[in-house]
Amino acid sequence: MTNQPTWLVGAIAVAATLAPQITHAACDPGEELIRFSHVTAESGHPKGEAATLLANRINTELDGRACMEVYPRSSLFNDDDVLDAMLRGDVEMAAPSLSKFEAYTLAFRIFDLPFLFEDILAVEEFQASPQGQEMLLAMSDQGLLGLGFWHNGMKQISANVPLERPSDAEGLMFRIQPSAVIAAQIAALGAESQAMPFSQVFDALESGQVDAQQNTWSNIYTQGFYLVQDGITETNHGIIDYLVVTSSDWWQGLDDGLRAELEQIILEVTHERNRFAFELGELARMRVRQDGGVIRRLDDAAREEWVAAFAPVWDQFRDEIGSDLIAAAQAAEGGI
Ligand code: LMR
Repeated sequence: MTNQPTWLVGAIAVAATLAPQITHAACDPGEELIRFSHVTAESGHPKGEAATLLANRINTELDGRACMEVYPRSSLFNDDDVLDAMLRGDVEMAAPSLSKFEAYTLAFRIFDLPFLFEDILAVEEFQASPQGQEMLLAMSDQGLLGLGFWHNGMKQISANVPLERPSDAEGLMFRIQPSAVIAAQIAALGAESQAMPFSQVFDALESGQVDAQQNTWSNIYTQGFYLVQDGITETNHGIIDYLVVTSSDWWQGLDDGLRAELEQIILEVTHERNRFAFELGELARMRVRQDGGVIRRLDDAAREEWVAAFAPVWDQFRDEIGSDLIAAAQAAEGGI
């Protein structure tokens, strides 16, 4: 880490001690309260920006009938307890990453297969296919309903040692999301993994509880992970994408007209904000670089080594995920 700007270090330290920032509308009695819980930054981040736009539109266009409060940065719930909270009626909407749904469905495991999706356009196309749209209903028997997919970006690997080839990761302890496919990736590197909530990752990296993690540029920048890592290796080996999720009971209990209008607003916000996910990621990558973060790009030979290192993961999960589904995802590689 070189040229680390003091303002940023200071800002991160201050942010850690401040009360969480909450985008609260002044909800009036009689309005349908919609609490939206998420774990990332509220600005400069695809999910944070989408949640803010959603709240702004609902609070303007449905004023008097509905009111959305956004709780960013895990200020209401962590991803590992938000779905239970939703089923209890303690929160109405969230957008956890697709790797966080293992306890409810295995349908999203496909999104964690390494080097399956070339880019977010391929993810978008697969999600728009009949197989992708069916996944919105994957948890309907458990009372959870998907309302749309929000994009973040491709995953990179950061570590507290220079990481160029897969063998450099051997023996490291990685923080991971709670996904068996991701755990298998780390095992394939000869490394160890520990699942932990997003809100704990910075401290765990800083204290050395874990050595490494994998995430998107917008998460690496807005959480300041690059400040406490040797560098970031641009593997683009996986994706982080989100499911906007709600409780089926709560959703079905809404007045028909209100539900239809909410559905339309969510659709429009999804289209609008998903177009900017890539740009926000690139901006974050540039900021990491400008702040002195070390970015290691892979040449073709090194990329092939990473692809080969992760290949056993495909063998482990191919049957369970289903060759047909994998073929449908691969067919989306042409882009749109
Ligand atoms: C993570 O836990 O690393 C991400 O899923 C966080 C997020 O919501 O982007």
